[in-house]
Amino acid sequence: MDYKSIYSSWKSDPERFWMEAAKAIDWVKFPSHALNESRKPFYQWFSDGEVNTCYNAVDRHVEAGLGTKDAIIYDSPVTGGKSKLTFKELLEQTSKFASALHRSGVQKGDRVIIYMPMIPEAIVSMLACARLGAIHSVVFGGFAAKELAVRIEDAKPRAIVSGSCGIEPSGVVPYKPLLDKAIELSNHKPEFCVVYQRKQLEAQLVLGRDFEWNDFQKRSSEHPCHPVLGSDPLYILYTSGTTGQPKGVIRPTGGHLVSLMWTMRNFYGVDPGDVFWAASDVGWVVGHSYIVYAPLFAGNTTVLFEGKPVGTPDPGTFWRVVQEHKIKTLFTAPTAFRAIKRSDPNGDYIKKFDISSLRALFLAGERADPDTIKWASEKLKVPVIDHWWQTETGFPMVGYPLGFKSPEVKIGSAGLPMPGFQIEVLGDDGESLGADMLGSIAVKLPLPPGTLPTLWNADERFKSAYLSRFPGYYETGDAGTIDPEGYVSIMARTDDVINTAGHRLSTGAMEEVLTEHPDIAECAVIGVKDELKGQIPIGFICLNAGVNREPSGIMEEVVQSIREKIGPVASFKIAIVVDRLPKTRSGKILRGTMLKIANGDEFKTPATIDDATILIEIEQALEKVGYPQ
Ligand code: COA
Ligand code: AMP
Repeated sequence: MDYKSIYSSWKSDPERFWMEAAKAIDWVKFPSHALNESRKPFYQWFSDGEVNTCYNAVDRHVEAGLGTKDAIIYDSPVTGGKSKLTFKELLEQTSKFASALHRSGVQKGDRVIIYMPMIPEAIVSMLACARLGAIHSVVFGGFAAKELAVRIEDAKPRAIVSGSCGIEPSGVVPYKPLLDKAIELSNHKPEFCVVYQRKQLEAQLVLGRDFEWNDFQKRSSEHPCHPVLGSDPLYILYTSGTTGQPKGVIRPTGGHLVSLMWTMRNFYGVDPGDVFWAASDVGWVVGHSYIVYAPLFAGNTTVLFEGKPVGTPDPGTFWRVVQEHKIKTLFTAPTAFRAIKRSDPNGDYIKKFDISSLRALFLAGERADPDTIKWASEKLKVPVIDHWWQTETGFPMVGYPLGFKSPEVKIGSAGLPMPGFQIEVLGDDGESLGADMLGSIAVKLPLPPGTLPTLWNADERFKSAYLSRFPGYYETGDAGTIDPEGYVSIMARTDDVINTAGHRLSTGAMEEVLTEHPDIAECAVIGVKDELKGQIPIGFICLNAGVNREPSGIMEEVVQSIREKIGPVASFKIAIVVDRLPKTRSGKILRGTMLKIANGDEFKTPATIDDATILIEIEQALEKVGYPQ
């Protein structure tokens, strides 16, 4: 079958398409229908089906006689650790941990926050929650205590599962003090915490509240899978919006199973038993979907890699992993390849390894620049495939599916719409724009199975953030074009979200932290072009009248407070003190113009001398810190 036929088979009868796809899942009760519009615009899929996610990821493979096959390969260059878990071992560990959680009171619908590094116990914790029908919410380890606190406050977890520390190339990152601080900051307190003690740094436990991972499960053995409804939430994953309050994206159980399972053969072109490696982090959506769930649903071996593309120990680490574990499919963010290319421009490290098992490289998480795609294809000699999606969708909206007679690849475009997604480019008034015209990218409702039905405890915010601007459509927050042959190109965000090293961050949230500083009157944070990370945040701050401290001291303080309040992952290293910020007549800060100056792009010179002077001041301030680069 070719791409066009599969897309039109979906478009002509979505209900039939998804009911057919649902057959690849083992249901306790097969759903009588796919789409349920009774709570429109909160669409539900497979809502009367009964199913369990953990059963489909683990138990069913063991029951099918595949228990001795590897489910997880853990490879950690930062610790030197390597291990494997078969499906049978994964079942034993998951069932035991689920039993212990259940004995401690965790029930279907309860929330459990997971704040863990890239270790197998993170996956065991996620699956154990799924086994009980409890809703997990994984928080990325690079976030600071306040970000964790906001998520605890919103999700109100009964329990938190954490690791004692993470390991970054710069050293050991103690997680437990961050967890303790977050619990202190939050009004909601979990009933208990389970802490996995890593030997690199053991954490101090709070008597009566914290339990050590092994002690916690000492008296437990196994626990069955609890069936849930197809529309029940599997997890909440918080993602950046325009403010400091992150959005709690809900992932519905049935649609998630069906859509992810569909993508493994049809989109990624893998078969059961193949080794699949998503070099991301379990804290991000790519990690949820393609480190943990989809490969396990499809009976693949998934690789859990605790390291970086460079520096752990060198830019050959990816190729060593490919050779050693016979990786068929690699999925990562373009920034990882930019880092490798910068350290190993001729690809000398690639030549040291046998990477003949590799069939394809998939890139997502940020715009894949043509240079990086060309370099990777030339050096790896496999198809390099861009694809576009978001936390909200959980799986690709646009791409080049490998499971069908492949459409021609156009470098610079993220590809063609996948079944489930009718994508249009809309103008400011909501009119559909013609080919190659730049506008807001929107998806016709309903979104397909597995995508967010709403935000956790925030139906109104869901409507205002995604559905209100273009009635009948989901607004993606990305701008781009569609060419006459239907290829979609993603150009930029239309909101205050930036993408730093494949991590989605809110400049609005950073501005909120900056304005908390007692000496700061106002500020603006913009995401400036960066050769390695794609974008990095730069803050402009105006001081209160009468403040006569050295600006450098204030700059250092704000850099530190973003690190403490949002986390090191924000990569916020540059703050500049300026006298004034450029504004429109109505007082809106001209962030777009400042960004053009920082990126060295052309911008419109303002009409008045005063406005022009402000821009010159911004230009001079940027020059001092080396921008445009
Ligand atoms: N726990 C604690 N700290 C973390 C962390 C974690 N899980 N992940 C990142 N950090 C810290 C880093 O140590 C760094 O701290 P520093 O300021 O003290 O150096 C900071 O957050 C920024 O991290 P990062 O943006 O990852 O930059 P880097 O310089 O360490 O590495 C790359 C740069 C490009 C090599 C790296 O970003 C990378 O591998 N990216 C792959 C992208 C990816 O996985 N994206 C996920 C979506 S697909
Ligand atoms: P996240 O929700 O963290 O996965 O980030 C989603 C955002 O990352 C999208 O809205 C885009 O802005 C950006 N993004 C993801 N994949 C791509 C891609 N292939 N090309 C361009 N931008 C992308």
